[in-house]
Amino acid sequence: MGAVSPDTDRVLERLPRELAKVSLCNSDDVPPPVPEYLNEHYWWTYVHPRAVQVFERRWLVNLILWGKYIAMRDAAVAELGETLPGRTLQVACVYGDLTPRLAARVPAGSQLDVVDVLPVQLGNLRAKLPEGAPVQLLRMDSSRLRIADATYDRALLFFLLHEMPRPVREATLREALRVVKPGGKLVIVDFARPYAWHPLKYLWHPVLTRLEPFAPDLWTLPVDTWLPESHRDRVVSRTGYFGNFYQKLVIEV
Ligand SMILES: C[S@@+](CC[C@H](N)C(=O)[O-])C[C@H]1O[C@@H](n2cnc3c(N)ncnc32)[C@H](O)[C@@H]1O
Repeated sequence: MGAVSPDTDRVLERLPRELAKVSLCNSDDVPPPVPEYLNEHYWWTYVHPRAVQVFERRWLVNLILWGKYIAMRDAAVAELGETLPGRTLQVACVYGDLTPRLAARVPAGSQLDVVDVLPVQLGNLRAKLPEGAPVQLLRMDSSRLRIADATYDRALLFFLLHEMPRPVREATLREALRVVKPGGKLVIVDFARPYAWHPLKYLWHPVLTRLEPFAPDLWTLPVDTWLPESHRDRVVSRTGYFGNFYQKLVIEV
């Protein structure tokens, strides 16, 4: 797999007109560069302009998660709350309909912000949202958020941490915790350490290791490993799914 380094602004310009309407609220004067690990390992799923056309299919996203996409999406949405008053942060776009479902729970006067480093992904998300959805799209690197401390009531990291090298993962967790208000919560949904009997541990892990080189961290170590010291004793709930192949973690900030 060769690496590509597309000029992301040009990628946005080449998007169909509907996608190009995306308004990128970027408090950074200089747009964040595409992280090296995305160009190297995830160019074919996220960075390449055609990636969206290939992967933005519910059945494919569901297949990749072994039929558990809906269960994991619904677990994340339910954990965040029946309604999402105040400000909510989703760190990184995802394929599928997670964000429209979150947006539908945002009451009048409240807001959902979605951060992503790739304009092509933000453009794709904008096209999935209904006109006037209370969603702001922010082009930022999750490991260096240009957002004030204690801005959000809650935040979500959905299948993001396993794609990151350890230093980026640690910085992303630190930043997510920083921008959530004390008393708010951070919800993490990702891979976990499956039970010993799980067949996919022996069948799927070797494949995934080739495709996603940082993912093995998540199925060998607890997420606590990468939390800042200040929050290691703040994990208030841990739920395993599908023989603990996946997990949901809730951290009280
Ligand atoms: C949430 S993750 C994986 C989601 C899951 N595989 C899915 O789509 O259902 C994918 C997103 O993370 C974004 N991303 C990866 N590293 C990032 C970073 N450092 N800062 C912001 N966004 C990042 C990618 O651009 C991509 O849109």
